[in-house]
Amino acid sequence: MFNVRLTRMARVIETLILIAAIPIVAGHFGYRRRDQYVWQRNFKLCGGKLQSPVSISSSTSKSIPVPLPALETIGYHDFLPTPLYLRNGGHSVLINIHDHPRRRLPCIFGGSLDPNHEYEMDHLHFHWGAKNDRGSEHVLNGVRYPMEMHIVHRNKVYSNFSSALDHKNGLAVLGIFFQLQEEDNELLNPVVKALKDVQLLNEQVKLNAPLALASLLPNGLDVFYTYKGSLTTPPCSEAVTWIIFPSPTPISFSQKTAKSRTQESVCTKTEFIFVCRIQRNDR
Ligand SMILES: *[C@@H]1O[C@H](CO)[C@@H](O)[C@H](O)[C@H]1NC(C)=O
Repeated sequence: MFNVRLTRMARVIETLILIAAIPIVAGHFGYRRRDQYVWQRNFKLCGGKLQSPVSISSSTSKSIPVPLPALETIGYHDFLPTPLYLRNGGHSVLINIHDHPRRRLPCIFGGSLDPNHEYEMDHLHFHWGAKNDRGSEHVLNGVRYPMEMHIVHRNKVYSNFSSALDHKNGLAVLGIFFQLQEEDNELLNPVVKALKDVQLLNEQVKLNAPLALASLLPNGLDVFYTYKGSLTTPPCSEAVTWIIFPSPTPISFSQKTAKSRTQESVCTKTEFIFVCRIQRNDR
C-alpha cells in the first residue's frame, strides 16, 4: 500500500558523541541577549542542566568517537504528504506535517536513539541571523553558520508532542547547517519561493512544488554529533536527542536573503513558544 523506502542514511564509520556540552543560558520573548535571561523566570526548565544549543568541538578532548548503529531514515526520499504549508510561526518559519490516513510519515531510528524506538517527523523549522556569521544555534568548532534547520521527530511511544516533552526520550531532532555559496541550490526552491508570502506573523502559504526531506539534507550523513539536550526555545524541555551533522547543505546568498527579509513581529504566543521577533531568531 504505502511505498515506504528504507534508506540507509549512511554507514556509520565514526560517530561522535559530545561529552563536554557547554550549556548556553536561555532567554524569553525576544532573542536579544537581555531577553534571554527572562526566559528562565517564566519557564523554569530553561535554567536546567541539559540546555541546548551547545558549542560542539571535534577535538577528541571534547568529543569521543563511538561505534553506533547507522542512523536509518524511512520516507525521507518520498514527497511529504500534501497539502504542505509554510507558516511564519513568529520565532521561525516552519512546515508542519499533518497525518495522512494512507501515508506513513517520515521516521528515523537507530544511531544514538533508544533501541526499538521509532521517531516520526512532527515539523521542521529554520533558525537564521541578521548577519551571515551568526544564525545557526549550534556552534561547530567555533563557527556559527548562517542558518540551521531542525527536523523535529516525536518518539512514537508518546501519542502527541506535548506528552513527548515530558520524557527524556521524547524527541529526536536532526540539526542541519546551511553554508553560503554563489549558485542557487535548486533543491531548496520549493521552500525559498514560498518565503516571500510569509513575511508576517502567522501568514501561511501552500507550497506549490512537492518536497522531500532528502533534498534539504547535506551529502555525507555518516558522521554526526549526538548529545542529550533540550528545545532551544521555551518551554526548553530536556526531551531532545540531538543529532547534528557537520557537513552543511549549500544555499545561495540570494536564497538566504529571502529568508532574512521576514519581518519583525509583535509579541505573541504560538503553541509552545513565546516570541517577539523573527528577523533574528538565533539564540
Ligand atoms: C496528549 O497525550 C496525553 C497522554 O496520552 C493526553 O492526556 C493529552 O490529552 C494529549 N494532549 C493533546 C493535546 O492531545
